Amino acid sequence: MRILVTGGAGYIGSHTCVLLLEAGHEVVIVDDFSNSKPEAVRRIGELAGRGAELAEVDLLDRASLDDAVAEAGPEAVVHFAGLKAVGESVAQPLRYYRTNVAGTLNLLEALAPTGCRTVVFSSSATVYGPEPQLPLKEDAPTSATNPYGWSKFMIEQILADLHAADDSWAIATLRYFNPVGAHPSGRIGEDPQGIPNNLLPFVSQVAVGRREKLSVFGDDYDTPDGTGVRDYLHVVDLAAGHLAALHRLVEVGGHHVWNLGTGQGRSVFEVIAAFERATGVPIPYEVTDRRPGDIAASYADPTKANQELGWTADHTLDAICADAWRWQSQNPEGYPD
Ligand code: NAD
Ligand code: WQD
Repeated sequence: MRILVTGGAGYIGSHTCVLLLEAGHEVVIVDDFSNSKPEAVRRIGELAGRGAELAEVDLLDRASLDDAVAEAGPEAVVHFAGLKAVGESVAQPLRYYRTNVAGTLNLLEALAPTGCRTVVFSSSATVYGPEPQLPLKEDAPTSATNPYGWSKFMIEQILADLHAADDSWAIATLRYFNPVGAHPSGRIGEDPQGIPNNLLPFVSQVAVGRREKLSVFGDDYDTPDGTGVRDYLHVVDLAAGHLAALHRLVEVGGHHVWNLGTGQGRSVFEVIAAFERATGVPIPYEVTDRRPGDIAASYADPTKANQELGWTADHTLDAICADAWRWQSQNPEGYPD
């Protein structure tokens, strides 16, 4: 198939593009490089043995997006592009709603005149809100606590309404838990700009000497060791989930919501121990106050995706840490400009 991948130069998008190309699909990346580098696109081609096409376009530039979509002539779209930093979304709500919600509307409207009606969308477990019933099933109530989360909530609703109005749209909303790790080659991985918001990138930067020590945000949660518990899944497993969802959508059409997670919760202390085990590098840390807005625990019930997509997230936490470390140690400053 010919597949348009918005945000294909980013962390999850780049890993998905490699798998799409390896599976024989043609890939057209639409990215404005606001949070990624062209070098990622080059390395996607290097890993897959053949390249993706690239349209350097901002989803908010409607005229250029229309042209890029028409020129690409896609049969399906995987839509990653958007802003994702929770704290930044609280400070800049309009920018987040415009990029995420209006960017998605632009994309869907650009697709409308083409024959393409198949969309896989990057949602987040953050839509399960502040008091999740664990393990989280897809029919659990949804809400949000910050503009980033609300933007995902709104886009999910827009996609559901679109399918309800016209069931020729085939839509998969994928709710990711905590994507981590890197491609086993060490050539592509997560390259956060500035101070990392997320645990694994921060731990990796401590290990490589870019940060002095990790702050553990609270050890007084109601969890087995008091630290926050999350469902960490390898980014290559997550990328494979997109291929499985896409293939299923093409077979059966419809509107689907699938959790992509391992089903296993791991604490911050477990992650530190796994990273030290996998790399032999000690991670200095101090326990600090809780981070505002954090919840004690979140993990998936991935049964629906396991059964309907024949997909599971198999990589262990130790394998995740080894791959994260290979990427970080081989690219201590991330991608070159
Ligand atoms: P990322 O920032 O690495 O990738 C997003 C890509 O989109 C970047 O390459 C960026 O340059 C591009 N982009 C941003 N705004 C754009 C615009 N207006 N026009 C064109 N391109 C634009 O993020 P990621 O971690 O790969 O996340 C991908 C998607 O998955 C996002 O929608 C994110 O909200 C969602 N998600 C991520 C996580 C996570 O923890 N990483 C968890 C759940 C959901
Ligand atoms: C994991 C655990 C922290 C950093 C966020 C978004 C969510 C989704 C994924 C996009 C928590 C603890 C973290 C640190 C720490 N993104 N921690 N020290 O909070 O589950 O989810 O990213 O959709 O929307 O909210 O992930 O990696 O930030 O935190 O102790 O320096 O690590 O308190 O328990 P989170 P995270």
